[in-house]
Amino acid sequence: MIIAIANNKGGVGKSTLAVHLATWLHRRGCSVILADCDTQQSSSEWIGEVEPSLRTVTLRDADEILDELPSLGAEVDFVIADGPGSNTETSRALLLRADAAIVPCKASMLEVRALARVTDLVRQAQDIRGGTPPAIIALSMVGKHYRLTRDMKDAAAALSLVVAETPVTLRQIYADAPGQGSVVWDMKTRNHAAADELDQLFAEILPGSLITSTEKETTA
Ligand SMILES: Nc1ncnc2c1ncn2[C@@H]1O[C@H](COP(=O)(O)OP(=O)(O)OP(=O)(O)O)[C@@H](O)[C@H]1O
Ligand SMILES: [Mg+2]
Repeated sequence: MIIAIANNKGGVGKSTLAVHLATWLHRRGCSVILADCDTQQSSSEWIGEVEPSLRTVTLRDADEILDELPSLGAEVDFVIADGPGSNTETSRALLLRADAAIVPCKASMLEVRALARVTDLVRQAQDIRGGTPPAIIALSMVGKHYRLTRDMKDAAAALSLVVAETPVTLRQIYADAPGQGSVVWDMKTRNHAAADELDQLFAEILPGSLITSTEKETTA
């Protein structure tokens, strides 16, 4: 299964989610490739420090994504593709090849216009591919301010997008993780709330049945 973490808006938490999701699946016994589609390659360097045995592949542009992503998808249980910050063509290519998309979005009204732009890309891909990839918005860097989250949910509903129940909260531990070459589950300042919310989000997005059946196939 190829999961694209895509939003052509920069700095919304794509790499943070991609590295944590790839690690989470790897630690549950799934075979995983992190496909780093960002020329800055921050997520492949980061995950190399967290899980050196987890394979990373760099896909530099839309052509490489279109040509190489399907064969990578056939090799492992999950390809987690970390999208670029500002390249529409790369995001489009990802959505044309992914089996599912997670769209991280900051919980702020200023993000609504950008959300509409990425939504257009999602809808175009779904139009071409008969509904694939299904897409879910993961609210990221959510403050305690409930009202902002509510507004984002309303905006997403207006765009007919599904929003994950579990948001990712704005916490220092996420910002510290890449500098320490670590993930929230391993950090010395281990913050149970962060660890728990990611466990909950990923379990929500990837139902246990999907992971269990993949584990069975791998061990069979
Ligand atoms: N939940 C969070 N709480 C606090 N800081 C966060 C959180 N998620 C991400 N950050 C920080 O916000 C910044 C942007 O996050 P990240 O690099 O994951 O976004 P991105 O969408 O991959 O960015 P780009 O588009 O540049 O690739 C980073 O400094 C990251 O450490
Ligand atoms: Mg990134």
